[in-house]
Amino acid sequence: MLQTRITELFGIKHPIVLAGMNQVTNPELVAAVSNAGGLGVMGISALTIEDTRATIREIRKLTSKPFGINQALTRPLAKEKIQIAIEEKVPVICYALGKPGFVKQVHEYGGKVIANIALAKHAVKAAELGIDAVILSGHEAAGHGGLVTSLVLIPKVASMVPKMPILASGGFSDGRGLAAALSLGADGVWMGTRFLMTKECRVKEPFKKLMAESTEEDTLYSSAFDGMASRALKSKASEDIYKRGNKDMANWVSSALEVKKMMNLSWPQFIATSWKMKNS
Ligand SMILES: Cc1cc2nc3c(=O)[nH]c(=O)nc-3n(C[C@H](O)[C@H](O)[C@H](O)COP(=O)(O)O)c2cc1C
Repeated sequence: MLQTRITELFGIKHPIVLAGMNQVTNPELVAAVSNAGGLGVMGISALTIEDTRATIREIRKLTSKPFGINQALTRPLAKEKIQIAIEEKVPVICYALGKPGFVKQVHEYGGKVIANIALAKHAVKAAELGIDAVILSGHEAAGHGGLVTSLVLIPKVASMVPKMPILASGGFSDGRGLAAALSLGADGVWMGTRFLMTKECRVKEPFKKLMAESTEEDTLYSSAFDGMASRALKSKASEDIYKRGNKDMANWVSSALEVKKMMNLSWPQFIATSWKMKNS
């Protein structure tokens, strides 16, 4: 068994964490990873307040092992949903984007807080805030990520903040990746895409097939998708957006209204969230 600062911190057997991916993680997948000795993390950024509590309780029915939730702090109702996770004493609270005002509250019930970051200087900030571990999203990562690659980012953070446990994220999908991450100074891996391909993941079969058939040349990196730099799988839809850029106002407005409806937001909540996202 491989013991690292990450297995000790979370009380798990293997230093492998399911990335808490918005809209594609589900309770069965989260519980399967935790039951297998890793740490399952549920992405809750698109859930309503009611669904957040119900989902946490559903995960608890499927596993007695530690698990986490992941919330982007710039998204609608982030504060309220984090409070629900705190009330439910979720063992690991992961966040991205923004300042966590809840670290003390989580530590009070014995929970851990981890931050998803893409720049070394943010690891220093995280240490100052009392964060328990950082996820370093290298340029290879699917979804939002910066320009610095893992090869550069991990050793840099390991030297700058030696006491901070590190989860390497971006392109890690097997034992070779885990060994490489540990060699670079990380304490475990935070894996996204690989877990999307499992039978426990509710992602539709045609999409799993598309991922399985894709090559290393089949991703697009752009800020056209939602205004922040991110990596997406090539498909007809992503290529259209990539070519058009994010200048299509009608498209932007219709997506924003869809999010408002999905999250059941009032107009003041919608305006406050849009402002936060614009400035993040
Ligand atoms: C469909 C999808 C949704 C994602 N949603 C989130 C999210 O809500 N919050 C977050 O911090 N990262 C999110 N990510 C990024 C992952 O946390 C992780 O950094 C990335 O998947 C790592 O790269 P890999 O897919 O090569 O393992 C998402 C990734 C994917 C593929």
